[in-house]
Amino acid sequence: MHRATKPALFVLALLPFAWYFYAAWADALGANPAEALIRRSGDWTLRFLCLTLAITPLRQLTGWNALARWRRMLGLFTFFYGVLHFLAFAGLDMGFDPAAIAKDIAKRPFILVGFSALMLMLPLAATSFNRAIKALGAKRWQALHRAVYAVALLALLHFFWMRAGKHDFAEVAVYAAILAVLLGWRVWRRLQRAASLAYPTARRDASV
Ligand code: HEM
Repeated sequence: MHRATKPALFVLALLPFAWYFYAAWADALGANPAEALIRRSGDWTLRFLCLTLAITPLRQLTGWNALARWRRMLGLFTFFYGVLHFLAFAGLDMGFDPAAIAKDIAKRPFILVGFSALMLMLPLAATSFNRAIKALGAKRWQALHRAVYAVALLALLHFFWMRAGKHDFAEVAVYAAILAVLLGWRVWRRLQRAASLAYPTARRDASV
């Protein structure tokens, strides 16, 4: 892979942030800028989560192992946009008042679900560095990072719950389909691997 690919991806991933920063400064976010910033940052969190989860299936399908080098960066950008989404909510909706934030999280179940997803992402972001992988050991690190599947399900539930109030499920269905394919792929691969371990002779016979 070309040496410039990773820095280029980094800059590309920062573009939504740069755009909304500029749009907020230029007063180009429409009639309700706070709502726009909260919603658009939520959209980008979900998009980066899907991109992160797409790396492994793409790598397995194409055999392009260099893709794995993008996964950590995309995962950290998911966390970055998740934190911005939370800060937009906490600052623009709640005026950074900790009591009001806690009250709203406890009062509205869809926010509690979103908050749980973000909290679950914290240990993943904190252990995404080589030193943490070494300290934890590869097996324990992998087990911990399987929490990303719970993050995906919570994020989808958060989005579904928010849109359920408006009876607007079109976009939720698109993300549900994408996540079903990305998570379904992993389940299928795992079942295949389990079957080949359980019936190794059948596989050998079939290949003769
Ligand atoms: C993994 C974490 C999260 C993801 C993926 C996520 C994703 C989303 C998405 C996709 C939307 C809808 C945007 C749209 O309408 O197009 C949204 C809305 C929202 N989220 Fe999150 N979210 C997450 C965490 C959080 C957290 C931690 C909070 C606050 C504690 C939060 C509070 C909200 C609020 C207040 C809205 C807007 C509701 C409205 O305007 O009616 N979310 N989120």
